[in-house]
Amino acid sequence: IVDAAKAAFIQATTPADLENAKAQFLGKSGRITELMKGMAALSVEEKKTRGAAINVAKQAIEVALTDCRQALADAELLKQLQAEALDVTLPGRQRGQGGLHPVSLAQERIEAIFGSMGFDVADGPEIESDWFSFTSLNNPPNHPARSMQDTFYIDTKGDDGVYYNLRPHTSPMQIRYAQAHVRKHGGEFDVAAGKLYSGAMPEIRVIAPGRTFRVDSDATHSPMFHQVEGLWVGENISFKDLKSVYLSFITSFFETDALQLRFRPSYFPFTEPSAEIDIMFESGPLKGRWLEVSGSGQVHPQVIRNMGLDPERYIGFAFGSGIDRLAMLRYGVSDLRLFFEGDVRFLSQFQ
Ligand code: PHE
Repeated sequence: IVDAAKAAFIQATTPADLENAKAQFLGKSGRITELMKGMAALSVEEKKTRGAAINVAKQAIEVALTDCRQALADAELLKQLQAEALDVTLPGRQRGQGGLHPVSLAQERIEAIFGSMGFDVADGPEIESDWFSFTSLNNPPNHPARSMQDTFYIDTKGDDGVYYNLRPHTSPMQIRYAQAHVRKHGGEFDVAAGKLYSGAMPEIRVIAPGRTFRVDSDATHSPMFHQVEGLWVGENISFKDLKSVYLSFITSFFETDALQLRFRPSYFPFTEPSAEIDIMFESGPLKGRWLEVSGSGQVHPQVIRNMGLDPERYIGFAFGSGIDRLAMLRYGVSDLRLFFEGDVRFLSQFQ
């Protein structure tokens, strides 16, 4: 009977089957109960031995039942685990790694290099008044830079009754920063009244990178572009300082000494003398071509005055370089527009 029960239990493939099989052996009218009933007619001695034997059988059947229940539960669990299994060997979903824009990368390099040479880094408004963008920079009223063809103007006057523009260069920052610097060091001035500061103060040494705007668009011009203004004003700052500073900067920026610098006479209303700075690589894909990277010059005395300073005491240099241009040269990009189209296939190359 024990073997028969075991065989029946093992055949059960579901818990319900197993409970049915159990009923056949251990149930109210099951085989064990039958055997017990069959003892009624036996003698006391026989009852003892037979009863003991039936009990042993009953216990063996119960053990077999428990084992089979456990086996069924295990099999069920295994099935469930297999159904829900994760293939941990599959490659995971990659988390997209962002990167800085190449123009931002170039700007960060510029800030780090000039920072290491003791330059402050300043920031200023992109919407400028006529005075900061032009007048303060000694721009004659009829200078072509003021014309509507170059500069984006805002067609309503500001609250102060003057016209504003999207700054066409970072040069307004020369005046803004210098005036704040003079004020900060206790210099009193009143540009409109011609009252200038001629006392002592720490040198002005700053770069001002940022967005600039001009009505222009082709492979090398974008209506929005980036410049970095540089300004160093003190009591004894000369063109030779401009050359050494710019050379240090450009060799650090391109990580090579194998390049030459050339100052080409030029004209800007706010510098006198003025020069374009060209560079030429002595090796690499751009070898042998003069490339214009910056405007520069000695700050015009009228601009020194508009800073609130006495040009008899203060002198200095300024430069304004195209950041996008420098980024194009450094990363070998031939079309400026790629910088501003936001195509990830292009941008993801600069991680
Ligand atoms: N502001 C000039 C430009 O945009 C560059 C420049 C800056 C030239 C400072 C001289 C000195 O072209």
